[in-house]
Amino acid sequence: MNKLELKLENRSYEIIIDSDIAFEISKELKKIKDIRNIVIITQQTIYNLYSKILKKVLHENGLEFHFIILDDNENAKSLTTFSEVINSLIEFNCNKSSIIFAFGGGVVGDLSGFVASTFMRGISYYQIPTTFLSMIDSSIGGKTAINTEKGKNLIGTIYQPKKVFINPDFMNSLPLREISSGMGELIKYGLIWDKDFLNDVLKYSENNSQKNISYFIHKSCQIKSQIVEKDEKDKGLRKILNFGHTIGHALESYFEYETIKHGESVALGMICESWISKEMGLIEPKTYESIHRSITSLSLPEINKIDKKKFYDFILKDKKHQSKKLNFVLLKGIGKPIIDINVQKNLILKSLDVII
Ligand SMILES: NC(=O)c1ccc[n+]([C@@H]2O[C@H](COP(=O)([O-])OP(=O)(O)OC[C@H]3O[C@@H](n4cnc5c(N)ncnc54)[C@H](O)[C@@H]3O)[C@@H](O)[C@H]2O)c1
Repeated sequence: MNKLELKLENRSYEIIIDSDIAFEISKELKKIKDIRNIVIITQQTIYNLYSKILKKVLHENGLEFHFIILDDNENAKSLTTFSEVINSLIEFNCNKSSIIFAFGGGVVGDLSGFVASTFMRGISYYQIPTTFLSMIDSSIGGKTAINTEKGKNLIGTIYQPKKVFINPDFMNSLPLREISSGMGELIKYGLIWDKDFLNDVLKYSENNSQKNISYFIHKSCQIKSQIVEKDEKDKGLRKILNFGHTIGHALESYFEYETIKHGESVALGMICESWISKEMGLIEPKTYESIHRSITSLSLPEINKIDKKKFYDFILKDKKHQSKKLNFVLLKGIGKPIIDINVQKNLILKSLDVII
């Protein structure tokens, strides 16, 4: 078993990486007194594949439990779903001693965390991520969110889980495209944090590495934990995790979350934001070329056309901006991000030509 701790005073928690998470979950549940019931929020595919594992643990511990199955797409991160889930919790007679298991990818994790943070002013929840992206990123750090039709993640809280249980074997059933989407966020850690890690990631994606997937999950959780420990509330250092996300989120919203997955849009956003870094004289053209090569080694969706005016409206709605400034995270080298950089509109729009 591989264990990490994210240290946040009384909100500290463990991240457990193990192929027998059932044992670890059972151990955890035995430590908690007076559990009213457990609600597992998930999606149909995950339920069909893996619900037996949780059912067995919960039966063995004599606990009452209920499943809530969300839509199998980003639409599940909506106000409508939020209100439906809250109604289900009320029907299940949940109270402050109820516990939520977020059993799925980032969509399930973000919605479940938001529900946990608001139901009865906050109940305990555990993250049990099942996608590559959620194992290396979204299950850690406590950011919860839902979208509105005006943009992504516009409603949310920062509310830490009690523990994160990661079973890398869940990745065996993931479609290749989901792995590639997770690779986008993995490359991001290399670009914003550690040049050597980036080299490891690139070797791995070329099938030229001795390192296994658990190493990359562990290392990513470690990097994210270090960042969140220093800046839980996203006031400074944590913003570096948004590299690629300003353009990435606008792309996701523009394409209505259908054509393009989160990690893919972040990958495309990183190409554009690295190009902007080059145009603003922050990185050398050869550094940009090598970043471009690394990211395009992933199989990314093709974008044929963008209505730049409509796209820019989504950029303006990004919650990261303050006053009238458009706050971007840019790079001044590999492993050297800079935050709160105002970028001119013409440069943002021109950067799209690199990915169309
Ligand atoms: N909170 C954060 O810090 C944070 C960070 C990054 C991303 N996010 C959010 O995460 C979301 C994207 O998450 P994602 O990439 O995990 O995608 P996702 O949650 O949409 O899952 C992708 C698909 O994979 C399926 N699936 C999940 N696990 C599976 C498994 N083991 N086998 C087979 N199929 C499986 C799901 O049912 C779904 O259809 C976005 O909404 C993004 O905004 C949040």
